[in-house]
Amino acid sequence: MSIESLAETAQALVAPGKGIIAIDESTATIGKRFAAVGIENTEAHRRRYRELLLTTPRLSDHISGAILFEETLRQSTEDGIPFPKYMASHGLIPGIKVDRGTSPLAGCPGERVTEGLDGLRDRLKAYYGLGARFAKWRAVITIGEDIPSGTCIEVNAHALARYAALCQEQGLVAIVEPEVLMDGDHDIQVCYEVTEAMLRSLFGALHDQGVLLEGTLLKASMVVPGQDCEERADIEEVAESTVMCLKSTVPAILPGIVFLSGGQSDADATARLDAMNRLGNLPWPLSFSYGRAMQQAALAHWAKDPVGNFAKAQAIVLERAKENGLAALGKWKG
Ligand code: 13P
Repeated sequence: MSIESLAETAQALVAPGKGIIAIDESTATIGKRFAAVGIENTEAHRRRYRELLLTTPRLSDHISGAILFEETLRQSTEDGIPFPKYMASHGLIPGIKVDRGTSPLAGCPGERVTEGLDGLRDRLKAYYGLGARFAKWRAVITIGEDIPSGTCIEVNAHALARYAALCQEQGLVAIVEPEVLMDGDHDIQVCYEVTEAMLRSLFGALHDQGVLLEGTLLKASMVVPGQDCEERADIEEVAESTVMCLKSTVPAILPGIVFLSGGQSDADATARLDAMNRLGNLPWPLSFSYGRAMQQAALAHWAKDPVGNFAKAQAIVLERAKENGLAALGKWKG
C-alpha cells in the first residue's frame, strides 16, 4: 500500500465541510445507549439501528466516513448488501474500531490501558478484505488525584503507535484517539496540561515507531473543565485553549484533526468546533468524529416508534451532519 493512497484516504476523511460519524459502540456500550431509550440490545436491533444511520439519504453531503464496530462491518442492509459495500457505493469510507477496550493498568490504581495488539495484524488484514480503509484505537486518560501518571500516558502512547504502524502496514489509515475524560472537578488548565502531555508523548511515540503522519488522523478531546468543576468555560475559551494546545503539540504535516464529543451536549459540540474554525490560521482541517453528538437526538426519536419514526430519525441525523459540517468550515449559524 503506497503512502499516496493512505494520504489520499486521510485527506478525504477531512475534506472541507465533512466529518466522520462514529457508530462503533461495542455491544456493551450500545446496550447502555439502547437501555436509556428502552430498546432491547439484540443483534437485530443493533443491525437495524446502524442501517438507519448508514442509509440516511444524502449523508455523504456532510459525512466522509463512518467508524463501525466489527459486528456491523460483517452485517448487511435489509436488502442483503454488506454495509461496507453499501457505504462505498454511497460515498462513505468504511472504518473500523480495532481496539478491544480498556483494562485496569497494573501498578497504576485508577488508570486504564487499551488492549488489542495481540493478533492485530491478522485482524487488520481481514478488516481490509471486508472493505475497511481506516481504523480507530481509543486510549482513555482519567484526570484525578495524582493521575494521570507518566506511566499511564507512556504505555497508552506506545500502544497507539504500535497500532498505527500495523494499520499502515496493512493499508489502513490510523486514527489515533487519546481521549482525556471530562469526568472530575478539575479546571480547564489541568485539562490543558494533561492533554498537552498526552499529545507530546503520542507524537513522540509515533515518530519513534516510524508512523507516517501523512496517513494518520488525530481524534482529539477538546480542552474543557471537568464535568463537576464549578468554574465553567465559555465557547471562546474552550476553542482558544484547544487550538493553542493542539498547535503546540501536533505537527502541521498531519492531514487533519477530528474531535470526539465525549458527553458534551449537541449544541456545545457544534458551537465549539465552529468557534475553533472561526479562529482561522490553522495548520490542519479541524472536523468532527462524533458519536453521541451525532446520534443521540435521532436515537431518542427512533426509539419512540422504530417503524413509524425511521425516516424522521434519519432526517435528524442529516440535520446534525449538516450542522457539524458547517461548523467544520466555521460557518455554522447557531
Ligand atoms: P463520542 O463522540 O460519543 O465521545 O464518541 C466518539 C468516539 O468514538 C469515542 O471513542
